[in-house]
Amino acid sequence: MGIRFDSVTVAYDGNVVLDSLDLTVEPGEVMALLGPSGSGKTTALRAVAGFVRPASGRVFLAEKDVTDLPPHRRGIGMVVQQYALFPHLRVDENVAFGLKARKAPKGEIRGRVAEALEMTGMAAYARRFPRELSGGQQQRVAIARALAIRPEVLLLDEPLSALDARLRSGMLTELARLHRELPGVSMLYVTHDQVEALTLADRIAVMDKARLQACGTPRELYRSPADEFTASFVGGANLVPVTVGAGGVSFAGTELKVATEGVAVGARATLCVRPHVVGLGQGPNQLVGVVREIQWRGATHRLYVEVDGHTVMADLRELKDPPAHGDLVSLHFAPDDAVLLAAGAGHG
Ligand SMILES: Nc1ncnc2c1ncn2[C@@H]1O[C@H](COP(=O)(O)OP(=O)(O)OP(=O)(O)O)[C@@H](O)[C@H]1O
Ligand SMILES: [Mg+2]
Repeated sequence: MGIRFDSVTVAYDGNVVLDSLDLTVEPGEVMALLGPSGSGKTTALRAVAGFVRPASGRVFLAEKDVTDLPPHRRGIGMVVQQYALFPHLRVDENVAFGLKARKAPKGEIRGRVAEALEMTGMAAYARRFPRELSGGQQQRVAIARALAIRPEVLLLDEPLSALDARLRSGMLTELARLHRELPGVSMLYVTHDQVEALTLADRIAVMDKARLQACGTPRELYRSPADEFTASFVGGANLVPVTVGAGGVSFAGTELKVATEGVAVGARATLCVRPHVVGLGQGPNQLVGVVREIQWRGATHRLYVEVDGHTVMADLRELKDPPAHGDLVSLHFAPDDAVLLAAGAGHG
């Protein structure tokens, strides 16, 4: 079952916190909503679930206008930001909650609860109370509770934010598996973690200041972002101010070869170069600067190099013989690996 936002606006006390959102999630698709705190992600989810009423616009589920339907009539499973389990109910009772509320027959409830606990690897914990579980286990129960009603749409609001890095990466793998087991279920997945969005989502919707800033596949947004905000939010980015010439740009007095289609000669623009495509040493599109910081990250070294007052980051495969602070180094990148962003693109 697909989800469609048709120009949905939500306001609290006259403050617009979701501004004319147009977005379609196809049946079976995983859409990540990615954006900084306060950008309207939870609000968008609540509009789909029916917990907040749009000031204008319509919400469709499977082409049916549900804007005026109460939450329990929408067939949606939701995992909220603070995965509030009922503390006085055991795990299986928590998972059964939505089914009981829907007055499902007893026998059916038993089967569905068992199935949902099985799917989330929590079958052995059915009789425990939430306080007897770790954070990751509680998270699984919250997901099991959402799955028990066999929703056609699953809304997940930062489901992994309370978990430590290792658990988070484990749960990410589990969510991907869950999605393979439930290929028909559309998922709208809120996160402000770009790794989660890149790993899990078929497409990413980037939100900023109540508005949809960009929407595309992870690869599209990463390889050819349309604006600076998207470039910096989806993956790390070097964004340097350049002046456009014929067949390239100039940055800090250096001529760089990059594609300039669609941007007028003489215009000011921003060049986006991902840190991992920057190489150390001489090469095409060479920049010379002073090493200001070196971070060893295990598999890679991250270099911060000051080039004419601008910091350029380079992620390099672990260096046997890394340069030292204050060293003068050359960096380079392939013309194909840079994206030119027109000034003001994607904003307003
Ligand atoms: N019930 C409410 N009453 C008034 N303002 C609200 C209410 N809920 C949210 N807001 C405001 O709406 C804006 C968007 O909030 P929302 O919860 O959608 O952000 P978010 O993108 O989910 O952020 P976060 O990443 O911090 O969860 C914020 O400025 C917030 O203060
Ligand atoms: Mg939120």
